[in-house]
Amino acid sequence: MPADLVIVANRLPVDRVEQSDGTPGWRGSPGGLVTAIEPVMRANDGTWIGWPGGTETDLEPFEYDGMNLVPMTMSQSEIELFYEGFANGTIWPLYHDLVAKPEFHREWWDAYVAVNQRFAEKAASLANKGATVWVHDYQLQLVPQMLRELRPDLRIGFYLHIPFPPAELFQQLPWRRQILEGLLGADLVGFQLPGGAGNFVRLVRQRVGHKTHRDLVYLPDGRTVRAAAFPISIDAAGFEELAQSDAVAARATAIREALGNPRRIFLGIDRLDYTKGIYARLRAFSELIADGHLDVEDAVFVQVAVPSREQVEQYRILRDEIDRLVGRINGDLGRIGKPAISYLHSSYPREEMAALYRAADIMVVTPYRDGMNLVAKEYVACRFDDDGALVLSEFAGAADELRQAWLVNPYDINAMKSSMLEAYAADEKELTKRMRAMRKTIRQHDVAAWADSFMSELADVDNTHAKPVKPAKRS
Ligand code: G6P
Repeated sequence: MPADLVIVANRLPVDRVEQSDGTPGWRGSPGGLVTAIEPVMRANDGTWIGWPGGTETDLEPFEYDGMNLVPMTMSQSEIELFYEGFANGTIWPLYHDLVAKPEFHREWWDAYVAVNQRFAEKAASLANKGATVWVHDYQLQLVPQMLRELRPDLRIGFYLHIPFPPAELFQQLPWRRQILEGLLGADLVGFQLPGGAGNFVRLVRQRVGHKTHRDLVYLPDGRTVRAAAFPISIDAAGFEELAQSDAVAARATAIREALGNPRRIFLGIDRLDYTKGIYARLRAFSELIADGHLDVEDAVFVQVAVPSREQVEQYRILRDEIDRLVGRINGDLGRIGKPAISYLHSSYPREEMAALYRAADIMVVTPYRDGMNLVAKEYVACRFDDDGALVLSEFAGAADELRQAWLVNPYDINAMKSSMLEAYAADEKELTKRMRAMRKTIRQHDVAAWADSFMSELADVDNTHAKPVKPAKRS
């Protein structure tokens, strides 16, 4: 499926799963990245290269729901060393403020280089002459440079969906220089926030020694690389339409009934990840009940935890901790038919998410660090009556735009408690004022606007005068 637009991401939008009858099938992949790129793919008739999960080796390129998908295989040892290892045991915690301790292992790095090379080769073989290749996220930071060496005719964009850390943290990485050089293979490197772009340019100047000016990096071969912020978003109109549908309305009513029609429903929806602050948030809620500020007759917290990276040690530990916490809270504070927390360890389709957003009065999104957090934006998009409250961490990228949320420091449990309580008690006028402003922002900056601005900036980069690149030595 050669194409003029090739998307390269670690994940395909669908995951290979075993269905209940034992036959293999497909299921939507978790996470914000997939949610954001899908609409771009549909609009551009591109080809998407990625891993469908698992270790199956004989999967052919296929069309799914109108998208051309090219599955990449991964061996068990690559899953362990590249995916669970370097991507999610080194880079993920390092880029999220060391919320967990990153591990540095040379064999993880070797696997990272090898898998990136394979993705680059696949992209090189599928891109038409002069095509645009858009590489995504922290799992594939070496692909831009590798791809440029193979195909200097391509226009290459890179977008990082997670935060890019300050120099003080990044410089711990033994392979810091190789990562920076890998990214510099792109013509345009996109970040969620201006802070991330600034961190990158500063590091390139300090660590690689290239000349920089504002958001531009000047390379010795004559190329310029731009590093800028492109805050990602959602298909706001699509979500709103879904939320307004009769089926979702009926489902939202059914959810409220199943919960015993409490006065207020609090909601959290996250991948089960230690960056998301689920533990502290549930503790804060339980303290409000224990203190007598809330009563289980009036309020319930629905927490959806989407299974994620279950083979990685820190994720297993987190799951056990949350299981124990929920059990304890419900045991101590619940009454018959009235648990304080309704906990669901599962992933749900878009329709069910929309119904939950519609059913919930207070959405609580309290990550310690998050690139953007699309769940916060989805909630806002679904509140077409301009009601509902959003409690949002200052450390989510979304807080830069959703200024009218109840913004909180997720490390400050007391502050979270008071914000949740304020949101619980807020009157209609207050809620409408805040939600209306946030909805305006989301409508103006939807995912189409995000993709358009990245693509048009990428198209504007003029590197035609650059000399051909020489392959760099990599250790
Ligand atoms: C985040 C990352 C994505 C990743 C997703 C799900 O959104 O930015 O790159 O795909 O989490 O994580 P997983 O490890 O299941 O791909």
